[in-house]
Amino acid sequence: MSLGNFIRTIACFSFWAAQARLSPMESQLDWHSARALLEWQVELGATEAILDAPVDRFSLETTAPKPAPVTAPAAQAAVQQASVQPDPAQIAKQMAETAGSLDALQAALAGFEYCELKRGARNLVFSDGNPAAQVIIVGEAPGRDEDQQGKPFVGRAGQLLDKMLAAIGLDRQSQEPANAAYITNVVPWRPPQNREPSPEEIAMLTPFLLRHIALIKPTVVVAMGNISCQALLGKRGISKLRGQLQNSRDIDVIPMFHPAYLLRNPSAKKLAWADLLMLKAKLAAS
Ligand code: URA
Repeated sequence: MSLGNFIRTIACFSFWAAQARLSPMESQLDWHSARALLEWQVELGATEAILDAPVDRFSLETTAPKPAPVTAPAAQAAVQQASVQPDPAQIAKQMAETAGSLDALQAALAGFEYCELKRGARNLVFSDGNPAAQVIIVGEAPGRDEDQQGKPFVGRAGQLLDKMLAAIGLDRQSQEPANAAYITNVVPWRPPQNREPSPEEIAMLTPFLLRHIALIKPTVVVAMGNISCQALLGKRGISKLRGQLQNSRDIDVIPMFHPAYLLRNPSAKKLAWADLLMLKAKLAAS
């Protein structure tokens, strides 16, 4: 700023001070003293004012634009947007329903990022057996052996399951659909320390199971234990549910004691044998 401009700035200030008619009480300075102080600054060599033009900061207060008020609906929408969480079961349903083949379903499960169990598991345990089988066996979740091998029912409980199936002429390796079995689980990832899957985990993974069953189109589904009954029938209580053919969502379901339960409670094997005979009769009648 030139010295001339600086003097003009001071003149503007002087004009503003006169307009403002500040009383000595308000400003502590009268007009003449203020001007003398500024001229003294000029004599000391000051050549710059803060801005090219003086700013009346009293008037700024009244003319500054106020922020637009946040309307209630806009605020609600903002809060809702911030707090809406995706519903994993809904996302699972959409992903599962668009899977047109077993490979696509497996890929959809592999890409499903809403189940924490996936992060602790070594493998996705999808299925084993013949997809042309008339029966699907639905277990609970992989254990350590299944997690390592990426196949359902390969540990001790799996060995007992194979013997149970063999007792009624079924074999997961069979190429003949009438003698074959197809095996999967409600949960495809091993839960930490083999804990029971939570209701939320069961709910978010059930759409994949239902799609799995729809793609295989079996005559009957065997629900092994309470977790499987929860997913397929919406209820637990295997001791009461077993022994009768159940139906849910147009799927025939035979609830059975889980092989791991039978390993701990061998006296329940005679009831399991009765259920296996029911399965054999159901398959023979179809
Ligand atoms: N128990 C299950 O329910 N599923 C398996 O795959 C293994 C053990």
